[in-house]
Amino acid sequence: MIKVKKVSFCLIMLLATISCHKQTQNLSESEVITKEPMVKLLESMTLEEKIGQMTQYNGFWDSTGPAPKDGDAKEKYDHLRSGRVGSMLNVSGVKEVRKLQEIAVNETRLGIPIIFGLDVIHGHKTLAPIPLAEVASWDLEAIEQSARMGAEEASARGINWTFAPMVDISRDARWGRVMEGAGEDPYLGSLVGQARVRGFQGTDLSKNNTIAATAKHFAGYGFAESGRDYNAADVGTVTLFNTILPPFKACVDENVATVMNAFNTLNGIPATGDEYLQRDILKGEWGFEGFIISDWGSGAEMIAHGFAKDLEHAAILAANAGSDMDMESYAFVKHLATAVDSGKVDMKHIDDSVLRILKIKEALGLFEDPYRYCDTEREKTIPYHKDHATLVRNMAKKSIVLLKNNEEILPLSKDQKNIVVIGDLAQEKTSPLGSWRIGSDDGTAISVLEGFEEKGVKYKYKSGPALISQPASFINEVKINSDDRSGFDAAVKAAKKADVVVMVLGEHGFQSGEGRSRTDLGFPGLQQELLEAVKAVNDQIVLVVMSGRPLVLTWAEENVPAIVQAWQLGTESGNAIADVLFGDYNPSGKLPMTFPRDVGQVPIYYNKLNTGRPGPSDLVFWSHYIDESNDPLYPFGYGLSYTEFKYTAMKAVATGKQVEVEVTVANVGERSGEEVVQLYIQDKVASVSRPIKELKGFQKIVLNAGESKVVRFTLDEEDLGFFNTRGEFVFESGEFAFMVGPNSTDLTTAIIELK
Ligand code: NOJ
Repeated sequence: MIKVKKVSFCLIMLLATISCHKQTQNLSESEVITKEPMVKLLESMTLEEKIGQMTQYNGFWDSTGPAPKDGDAKEKYDHLRSGRVGSMLNVSGVKEVRKLQEIAVNETRLGIPIIFGLDVIHGHKTLAPIPLAEVASWDLEAIEQSARMGAEEASARGINWTFAPMVDISRDARWGRVMEGAGEDPYLGSLVGQARVRGFQGTDLSKNNTIAATAKHFAGYGFAESGRDYNAADVGTVTLFNTILPPFKACVDENVATVMNAFNTLNGIPATGDEYLQRDILKGEWGFEGFIISDWGSGAEMIAHGFAKDLEHAAILAANAGSDMDMESYAFVKHLATAVDSGKVDMKHIDDSVLRILKIKEALGLFEDPYRYCDTEREKTIPYHKDHATLVRNMAKKSIVLLKNNEEILPLSKDQKNIVVIGDLAQEKTSPLGSWRIGSDDGTAISVLEGFEEKGVKYKYKSGPALISQPASFINEVKINSDDRSGFDAAVKAAKKADVVVMVLGEHGFQSGEGRSRTDLGFPGLQQELLEAVKAVNDQIVLVVMSGRPLVLTWAEENVPAIVQAWQLGTESGNAIADVLFGDYNPSGKLPMTFPRDVGQVPIYYNKLNTGRPGPSDLVFWSHYIDESNDPLYPFGYGLSYTEFKYTAMKAVATGKQVEVEVTVANVGERSGEEVVQLYIQDKVASVSRPIKELKGFQKIVLNAGESKVVRFTLDEEDLGFFNTRGEFVFESGEFAFMVGPNSTDLTTAIIELK
């Protein structure tokens, strides 16, 4: 408290000095108010204090208990006291945050407040669907609201900074972190990234319910070779500029406060030490004014990458490359001062980093009130399964994708006799929460069974064999049950007598996420065997798939009449699934990633280049597999509804370089429904071979039964151009295809020559 006064007094003095300054230097009002105090503060800092601002520590002890007297925690505690820590992560709860903030504010020389970061990925206490699932809604407003809810809850628990959104484009379902991103498309990914930044940051970062966002991981993390997490990424300029960078640029345009660099090497350079990416592109060309946080220990990992010879070298490389804050690798705190003294890191780099960090703290209002996010009364109001339940239930319903519905087996009637529910996941109250859920508690998801009960639906339940053989956790490998067949026969027996079998199968929530790559994209454990055994006794199967990534569902597609992709849908999971299965919500989700027929096709994505031998041909000499089709099982943008939409009267008209595309969409079914109308283009001939399709627009519309609507899109040079091999954005005139439809495959095309 005492130090708050000291800081405020300092700031008053600074502002007084500035007003004199203003007359002599002709500074604008906004420059004076937003920049100058932080510059003055910077000037008053020692090198050690500056490096402190560039250092982030993980929560190091229960701050509400006694401070440790020895060991690592003791050292961190001493560093906190001496102003050598600018930020902390993984501390939450008002009591704990306040305690640490009080040390920073009251016990350090300058009293600079700490910024507290946490992974608020898809909610905090109340969980929305995993980010990839949310994208299946193609509902930017809903996605923004979901991030807003996460910010509301986390900020009430003392947090003012989230490490989200993850905007890594990925085409590889083996990579466990696809669950955290927006899928494979840079256009959709950019809009979703912006919606999430808006949701977290709001319009005023200094409000106590908005938090700073982070666009991560800059860059190329989603292109990890073989889909193996942390692996090297090797991509050419054209892919880098057209596919990987656009969502980051979009977030910068949306004023994202921070960017996190990545663990991986990109074309041989570890992202944390990549000057071209961080200084030239992000801070240079794009004019990013926030700061760059490293990923956890990524500075030190440059040693294992064979890029830095030791931790001091890592500190030098990271600071020179433009990494502003070091998360938990101790490189800056241990070695940056020596590096500056010896001239290996220029003081101007340090000053630039510190100023960026101070300005974000200032924007968050922390200098005005370091305890802005520490209101115990507000913390008590954060609901758990209450006010936010409706919001996440709506989000969850919209995220579900209906993949198959033969003979309209769905929706089921609530009076349906003899429903048998099978599958261990149907009773799960933890797995549907996913793997990024640091602020929530185990066992807090509504299970599928509870969702059925809420609707008063009568059912019999047989779990079948257990999915996992040991309790799963965030830090350990999930142990899948592959040999204990208890419950298998009982499930098959019950299925035999059922009128309809609802099978809930998939991955455990801890099978996707960080460090959770897979080579097999089938159902883990005994589930496929169980599905086949049930099918042998009963055809009437509704398969509900829970997963954090696209799975291979080829057998199911060929053998099961109805398939519902239900991801990991968060707190209200079971209620949302029941809403869809029993027709209280007409599914409208569309896939944000291609679902392969076989893992051997991966990476598979819709916006691919043509080969010189696209085929098909009678001889073998065309680009194909001899044992599997090239086609996906379900394409990007695909998803069914309980009603039917018809597309007619598509036309594209050019006026100069602007193109208007329109199409009439009619609901020709018997229920009201929502449709995501998608627009793709192809630049037919260009100086760089262009993808066969690229999403360039979409609109989610609601149509009552029998209703129709004309949907219009306008495209200009910016939509039609691309980045060439030198990373320059160009528009090249010539022939373009414009394609409209309900997914990336079923499209109506118009071709236009643009001058
Ligand atoms: C490592 C992850 O890669 C990153 O996304 C996350 O924000 C940090 N850990 C902090 O938890």
